[in-house]
Amino acid sequence: MKKMIVANWKMQLNIKDSLSLTKKMLQQLKFSSAQIVICPDYLSLVLISPLLKKTFIALGAQDSAVAEFGAYTGEISAVNLRQLGVKYVILGHSERRNHLHENSAIINAKIRVALSQGIIPILCIGEKLTERNNGEAESYLNSELHRALKGIKIKRARDLIIAYEPIWAISTNHAARPILASEADRIQTFIKKKAQRILKKKIAVLYGGSVNDQNAADFLAQKNIDGLLIGAAALQIKEFSSICSI
Ligand code: PGA
Repeated sequence: MKKMIVANWKMQLNIKDSLSLTKKMLQQLKFSSAQIVICPDYLSLVLISPLLKKTFIALGAQDSAVAEFGAYTGEISAVNLRQLGVKYVILGHSERRNHLHENSAIINAKIRVALSQGIIPILCIGEKLTERNNGEAESYLNSELHRALKGIKIKRARDLIIAYEPIWAISTNHAARPILASEADRIQTFIKKKAQRILKKKIAVLYGGSVNDQNAADFLAQKNIDGLLIGAAALQIKEFSSICSI
């Protein structure tokens, strides 16, 4: 199974810079053995979509709505994302949980709609620093998995992906510091086991949080790390290409 490298551009780039970064990637990332996915903001996504057709880079979105269509002012439908060629959608990112108060019930509804459209959800879960310090990371992750995946059924293992992103390790976080690759692997082994029990499929688990060109190889070398979800380091073409060529 190919490792995955997912670039989460968040709301960091304007449209011109998003297009320019995409073009540079298409020119410079030719030799990656990983499946590369880029997740631009919605407006850039519309313009980037035709550039990625029949290329080795897949298109992802940073979120999608709880319903296919309806009176949801400001929301973006997975149906329309699908029409634009979106293959993956990040759901439950900690920034949406924190800033937009998304809870597990909302995330669960979003997963259902994305799956109904054949879009692969990348479900983000991660503990806060206090949970980690209190030795409660695993129990938090386990209950979050149960809540977000309640009643979800998938046909194939690759229909859903999980990204383990310890909130305290995400680079935009004030106190961010990287986790040791071996520790991430230990926790991801736990997440895999629990997710497999819930979904009855072997689920791929990505790692995200302060990944850069210095530590990416260590993460990718771990047995239960099936790929990376990268924020800041995905915005620099040189750094991102060197991660993709590991
Ligand atoms: P980071 O972000 O790589 O900048 O820590 C990861 C993420 O938030 O998905």
